[in-house]
Amino acid sequence: MKTFTTRSQIRQYLNAQGAAKVGFVPTMGALHNGHISLITQAKQANDVTVCSIFVNPTQFNDPKDLEKYPRPIEADKAKLELAGCDILFNPGVSDMYDDNEQWHLDIGPMEQLLEGEFRPGHYQGVTQVVFKLLDIVKPTNLYMGQKDYQQFMIVSRMVELLNIPVNMVMCPIERETDGLAMSSRNIHLTPADREHSLVLSKTLNWVKNNFDANNIEVLQQQAMEKMASINDVVPEYFRIVDGKTLLPANTNTQSIVALTAARVGKTRLIDNVLIK
Ligand code: PAJ
Repeated sequence: MKTFTTRSQIRQYLNAQGAAKVGFVPTMGALHNGHISLITQAKQANDVTVCSIFVNPTQFNDPKDLEKYPRPIEADKAKLELAGCDILFNPGVSDMYDDNEQWHLDIGPMEQLLEGEFRPGHYQGVTQVVFKLLDIVKPTNLYMGQKDYQQFMIVSRMVELLNIPVNMVMCPIERETDGLAMSSRNIHLTPADREHSLVLSKTLNWVKNNFDANNIEVLQQQAMEKMASINDVVPEYFRIVDGKTLLPANTNTQSIVALTAARVGKTRLIDNVLIK
């Protein structure tokens, strides 16, 4: 695997290679099998697979969260080598941003919903960095996880609005055997938190199995109560929404997703399930 830390180096290399199909997996590192499943999927459909590891400061609204974000770069490189990733782009903050750089993209109402409500400004930071990364890597296919469902929809909207020539691929959520969605933040869970964290996936499955389009409000309420009944779990939201607009679902909605976020001890977790 080739590693590059500056935009000009990676661009020069990709230009020289002239691969017909480039697959791209942007990440913030602390790689787990969820990330690796994206690499594997990219490898199957492209001539060259590029992964980026960049802990993007502009998408963190909590400075402590940014500070404590895990950065095990050597272990990450070993995992990428093993997965057969061709290129790693691992820039520093000053390689990606000028001082006081400004960015704003009007993504519409979706930005303020769900994560947007609890992490103001988060998706401006995400679109800012993904736009830059796409401009550098110029991939044919962009692989992103269903784990961050709203992020996928927001980036899709940006791609559409700005006419970016890339095909977006949504990859399924990889889970631990007991159901917990894999996440770089899971390492912060204490053994007790780890037990308690199962309530997210259990509640999502419960809602999927008991889904009744006439009873969405009640289901949401019951789901919030189920989560809040577990020690040290503070649910932020549990919503059953239209999978395209992320607005509240109703009896006529064609594609429905349930999404949740909760604090488990000191760690904030998100998860979701496709209902129909
Ligand atoms: P990060 O949280 O590192 O996630 C990188 C990619 O891996 C995202 O597309 C995410 O949805 C996917 N992913 C995470 N956990 C997963 C799981 N359990 N199963 C499948 N895929 C999973 O998302 C980001 O980084 C950043 O916001 C980024 C897009 C890189 C911009 O900075």
